[in-house]
Amino acid sequence: MKKILVINGPNLNMLGIREPDIYGRQDYKALCDYIGQAAASLGIETDIFQSNHEGEIVDKIQLAYGKYDGIVINPAAYTHTSVAILDALKAVGIPAVEVHLSDVSKREAFRQISYAGLACSEHYTGLGFEGYKKALEWFLK
Ligand code: DQA
Repeated sequence: MKKILVINGPNLNMLGIREPDIYGRQDYKALCDYIGQAAASLGIETDIFQSNHEGEIVDKIQLAYGKYDGIVINPAAYTHTSVAILDALKAVGIPAVEVHLSDVSKREAFRQISYAGLACSEHYTGLGFEGYKKALEWFLK
């Protein structure tokens, strides 16, 4: 059974409260439940991690070395700023897929760059929760 680490970055714990017109009205627990159900239906084992702190995300990626077959990552705002998360993904060399709930390509100019995305093999944006399921499915291809 494949073992996938799902990493969610800052403010995703505020789902349901934060900008519902962009991110929807379902809360973070609903996202975790959705990911858990999607993983179970696909026969994938997942661990889900959320942090508002860049260094904790870097630590988590480093600790994943040798333990996971893949990483699904929504680095949230760190997508657009963090060379450290990009370097961590490259350092461990674990296949990674990038997810964004919103369609970042249609948003502000500063969201158009994705550093972490440079270390990801596939990208699902603007699909809401479903992007996470598509990302898990990618590892079965
Ligand atoms: C996000 C998009 C980012 O630009 C933003 O900073 C987030 C969430 C998304 O899932 O759509 O926090 O990653």
